[in-house]
Amino acid sequence: MRRSARMHFRTFAAVLVSTSFCAAVFAQTSGELDTQKDFDASHTQGPGDVKEGYESKDYQTRSRSLLKRRGVKKDLIRFAQNPPLGLPPVPIPAENPLTRSKIDLGRKLFFDRRLSINDTFACATCHIPEQGLTNNEMRTAVGVEGRSVLRNSPTLYNVAYLARLFLDGREISLENQVWQPMTSHNEMAAPSIGWVINKIRRMRDYDGLFEKAFDGAGPNILTIGQALASYQRTLLAADSPFDRWYFGNQTNAVDESVKRGFGVFSGKGQCIVCHTMQKEHALFTDQKFHNTGLGFLVSFNKDSEETSKTTRVQLAPGVFVDVSNEKIKAVSQQKLPNDLGLYRVTENPNDRWRFRTQSLRNVALTAPYMHNGKFDTLREVIDFYDRGGIPNELLSPLIFPLNLSEQEKQDLEAFLLSLTGTTVPEIVADAFAAPIGDLSLEDPNWAHEETLGY
Ligand code: HEC
Ligand code: HEC
Repeated sequence: MRRSARMHFRTFAAVLVSTSFCAAVFAQTSGELDTQKDFDASHTQGPGDVKEGYESKDYQTRSRSLLKRRGVKKDLIRFAQNPPLGLPPVPIPAENPLTRSKIDLGRKLFFDRRLSINDTFACATCHIPEQGLTNNEMRTAVGVEGRSVLRNSPTLYNVAYLARLFLDGREISLENQVWQPMTSHNEMAAPSIGWVINKIRRMRDYDGLFEKAFDGAGPNILTIGQALASYQRTLLAADSPFDRWYFGNQTNAVDESVKRGFGVFSGKGQCIVCHTMQKEHALFTDQKFHNTGLGFLVSFNKDSEETSKTTRVQLAPGVFVDVSNEKIKAVSQQKLPNDLGLYRVTENPNDRWRFRTQSLRNVALTAPYMHNGKFDTLREVIDFYDRGGIPNELLSPLIFPLNLSEQEKQDLEAFLLSLTGTTVPEIVADAFAAPIGDLSLEDPNWAHEETLGY
């Protein structure tokens, strides 16, 4: 009984995940196909309407949300060459200079579900463009077959600047990082790096693309990482109202509440100590690891104060249901292991429950918050800091009760909301135009073939 209930939930979760992603996939397809000259596009109409196999080609979608999702390809390299206001120059490794063909290739890989074991999961399934390049529906991520992942999917906006990746800092370059989600059993579940390389080599729509981007080199452990890293380095979201006011000296770019909120952020609230700023730009993270008590809370199962009795799940774009947490718990996989944060990398007991400071840029778009998606709203995060986090023997000395007034909390929230980059719509529109690995082209998964061919 228990087993079947769990299976059921997995399928449920997988369907949920794939519904919103599929909508994105279909929406994107048409934009891409138009540009392929050798493809008969007569049966494609608007977004979401590939009409192959339909009885009639006259069918038109009535989905307004799909029609709004028309992709527009952008020249992303210019963001990285000339970062939007508020961001420093982008660090680009000497061994992987940024080029348009690498970015295009990385973008194609990022949205390609065929890189997962069963053709269901792309990077973009968890880092969803229209959801702040994270996933607004899940506290912690869910991978292939509904398998639970320990942490919340972080946003990939401005990930180019992070010196250490993952919330415990265990990876040091975007080039290397890609293999972890691809080969993790509970994420994309590719059985090995070689399996991915072999699969890409056999997918005809990649023919020549690696060779063009990498001076003749085909898909391999380096070039796949370099292409994905190149795309991610261009995902820069800044030039926010706050940037225009603070760095651009535009007095009216934000209202008085934001200005007062910045006062709280940099004064009484002491947020700026960890969410740091420089003279001419700001990442709002010191990229260091701190214990706010949240990890401790979960480790010791003291997490009694559920923030809500239900979890909001998106079934299709714009269609939500509230599912009771009791029900979800009853059919969920076993509890995940404790998340000890930086300790997992150093095995130093003093590093337990320390997590990397998150950037505050674009936080309006990236709920739920913190490494475990504990908080649904920014107000809950502010109240958490106001209480002084969760006391524990290793709590950072920089976290203590703040005694903020109601007005100060509202102003602080207004400040956080002013950090959304004006470049976001361009990045999302570009993402909607990305090519999607077309599953109908052929089955490139050698494991499905009767004879393995080698
Ligand atoms: C199943 C969901 C899922 C998929 C699929 C996925 N990610 Fe992630 N990603 C996560 C989660 C969760 C984390 C945080 C994990 C941690 O800190 O341990 C993360 C972290 C990252 C980070 C580090 C960000 C930071 O702030 O340190 C990068 C970069 C990243 N992912 C890129 C990718 C790329 C590229 C792909 C595709 C090859 C991908 N992800 C596929 C869920 C996913
Ligand atoms: C001691 C350093 C420190 C101080 C001080 C601090 N933060 Fe944080 N902040 C962090 C760390 C570390 C995280 C990541 C915690 C986690 O993932 O569990 C974080 C995460 C956040 C997040 C969630 C971001 C996301 O995308 O999930 C928000 C919002 C935030 N802080 C706002 C604030 C505000 C507002 C203040 C001031 C009232 C503040 N922080 C003070 C270290 C700090």
